[in-house]
Amino acid sequence: MHALRIARAYTAREQFIKFEGQYHGMADYFMFSTASANPGALGSRRNPINAPVTSGIPKALNQYVINLPFNDIERLEETITAKWHDLAAIFIEPIMGNAAGIMPKPGFLEKIRELCDKYGIVMVFDEVKTGFRIANGGAQEFFGIQADLVTFAKAMGNGFPIAAIAGKEDVMMTVQPGAMAHGGTYSANVVATAAADATLEILETEPVIETINQRGRALMTGIDEVLTEAGIPHVVTGVPPMFGIMLGSDQEPYEFREYLEGDGELYEAISMELIKRGVQPDGDGREPWFLCYALSEEDIHETLNVFNDSVKAAKE
Ligand SMILES: Cc1ncc(COP(=O)(O)O)c(C=O)c1O
Repeated sequence: MHALRIARAYTAREQFIKFEGQYHGMADYFMFSTASANPGALGSRRNPINAPVTSGIPKALNQYVINLPFNDIERLEETITAKWHDLAAIFIEPIMGNAAGIMPKPGFLEKIRELCDKYGIVMVFDEVKTGFRIANGGAQEFFGIQADLVTFAKAMGNGFPIAAIAGKEDVMMTVQPGAMAHGGTYSANVVATAAADATLEILETEPVIETINQRGRALMTGIDEVLTEAGIPHVVTGVPPMFGIMLGSDQEPYEFREYLEGDGELYEAISMELIKRGVQPDGDGREPWFLCYALSEEDIHETLNVFNDSVKAAKE
């Protein structure tokens, strides 16, 4: 919400692009065509409809939001060429953390960077899920791309309620008393800030990212093997610290609409069997599996054994 206001104040433009299946928080402007949207309400791929995800959003906000399919350079380029003079920002989850960890195709993020530079649009990486998780420098480090604004939360506070916006100096300097407002009761909250400070120190001094990558890779490989053995078509998407499991298809999804072709019911059935046996993923397959530094190698081993039993039980 604040990143959008900064981008608007910086560019003096009002519209923005986001991608179908991406979630950027509860603010009204973003509650269209998220991963929770009714799939039947998305409209045609060539001419997507902004599908509201909740009651209570003024209809007029629809005019400011453009939802596009992820990874479609052609549609993106066409849209920007036609509307750049109204476009303040492009919001991107660099890996689709609310849709099974769908990856950007090589060149997609680079193209967004190029188009934002060419047309003076603010490129916003929403790193609420990828930040401090897929690398200490988040998706920016992982993909080698610098956004203009970046939003963080989740892993940054390791459970404490904190969020942050960072960005290029000239864009961030738009925030000025009397010019562009930012603040709130809990801004710079001392307890949460201390928690983030401690978390960042641990990230810098301990092999957190390396460990969760290693353990996550073991889980991804093991899950792939169990599903192959069970004869269930599947794709394990994403990266080891946050990966997704799409069942019922062996085609890697590159956008939300492709992900929806998977077998969500079978995923849910397996999840329920996992929970019965003491392993608790989110029952909704859109939510990736996030690795925790506290998980040991034995935990991974046990999880895979339970996964194997759960798949067998769900198939019965
Ligand atoms: C990618 C992404 N952005 C933004 C948010 C929302 O964050 P908050 O609830 O702190 O506004 C979430 C929450 O799950 C998220 O996954």
